[in-house]
Amino acid sequence: MNPKIGNLLYAGKAKDVYKTDDPKRVIVKFRDDITAGDGVKSEKMVKKGFYNSLISSKFFEVLENAGIKTQYIELIEPGYMLCKKLDMLPLEVITRNIAAGSLLKKFPFKTRQELNPPVIQMDYKNDEYHDPMLNDSITIALGLADQEQLDIIRDITLKINSVLKDFLLSKNILFPDFKIEYGFDSSGNIVLGDEISPDTCRFWDSKTCEVLDKDLFRKGDSGVMDAYVKVASLILSEKDIKKWKIEL
Ligand code: TMP
Ligand code: ASP
Repeated sequence: MNPKIGNLLYAGKAKDVYKTDDPKRVIVKFRDDITAGDGVKSEKMVKKGFYNSLISSKFFEVLENAGIKTQYIELIEPGYMLCKKLDMLPLEVITRNIAAGSLLKKFPFKTRQELNPPVIQMDYKNDEYHDPMLNDSITIALGLADQEQLDIIRDITLKINSVLKDFLLSKNILFPDFKIEYGFDSSGNIVLGDEISPDTCRFWDSKTCEVLDKDLFRKGDSGVMDAYVKVASLILSEKDIKKWKIEL
């Protein structure tokens, strides 16, 4: 592999982060593991890493083209993404355009109620505490981020939402909600990291409202991988599909 993959730096639930020869760059490996319930439910899904790396790369490219700073440098090959090394914030920044999932369990929203302006929620990324919802005071008191950083994160997140929502709609996909994570680059800038994939977003077919994301796995439904492949087939260009010899 070029650049050469070094030692393992960090192993998450679905991705591993490896060193490279350049201390400012890492290689993110997208694994085939799929988990739910803070990792309690866990399986292997053949080629999930392959497709999620391609889908995430596409979203990062769309965002970079819209002027948003991301960790993404290039897809070395499916499954392996070259990225800027970030010092990650333990925040799950969730944006909601349509009420779904845990929002319906916690609050009296109507199913599929449109949320305009979008709702931004931040959860503390911590399996032991089951990712509790934060407010700014708690986040600041925990020393996770300061007010200025939280304001910057909200600004960037709203822009990301608007760029991706429009892009997805042009591909016949609705974007009810998604989770992103941020980190600091070597100059201290807040930069989008992690992944944007059917593992971390809700995607619905805009014509049929068919679910095309990890909710299928969370609910124990079949066709999880077919849904991920469908997302890839809808958003990737002919060029990407030929380049990586993708079988759709
Ligand atoms: P929720 O409705 O279950 O709170 O999920 C909101 C969004 O966040 C949804 O797009 C899925 C994503 N998500 C993750 O990426 N990781 C998680 O651990 C959870 C619970 C949700
Ligand atoms: N992040 C959760 C876990 O790995 C899964 C979820 O997305 O619901 O357990």
